[in-house]
Amino acid sequence: MAKLPWKWTISIAVCVAVLAIGSNLYTSHLNRMTDGNVNASAQKHTILASPIVPQSAPIVSYRSPTCGCCGEWVKRMQAVGFTVEDNITENLDAIKKQHNLPNDLAACHTAIAAGYVIEGHIPAADIQRLLAEKPKIAGIAVPGMPIGSPGMESGNIRESYATYSFTKDGKVTIFQEHPA
Ligand code: CU
Ligand code: CU
Repeated sequence: MAKLPWKWTISIAVCVAVLAIGSNLYTSHLNRMTDGNVNASAQKHTILASPIVPQSAPIVSYRSPTCGCCGEWVKRMQAVGFTVEDNITENLDAIKKQHNLPNDLAACHTAIAAGYVIEGHIPAADIQRLLAEKPKIAGIAVPGMPIGSPGMESGNIRESYATYSFTKDGKVTIFQEHPA
């Protein structure tokens, strides 16, 4: 008779332990699910909120007839919805000078959008940000031709590079970092 309550005590203790562990696991499972849902909806929101390019902001582009990557950049901009006026010219240097582009920010092609200089292989998102924020600068530039920038894709290779902003009097600052 004395053995039976002892067994009960053990089995009750085991039950309590199982319930306690189980409810902890369940709570953390719920937390994980909630976090997951929040993240998923945040991601969805980000995708939906990615800006649609307004038709009122055309890009007037100037490139040399022999530059393949320049043509590719124009295509990337058109692909995200920019209207691009694609001008072929042999006289790019004159256009760069005319728009006060600092020499060390020069790239292969030059474009103008809403009065801003858009120099080189600039990602569309940077142009969208520029046109939305309208900072008091002369333009933005990705100097040279970094591998992995729009129009300069080469498999999975990506150089890190930056988009710089510059003012009319030649003040240059980083506008956006683009890590590799
Ligand atoms: Cu190029
Ligand atoms: Cu180019």
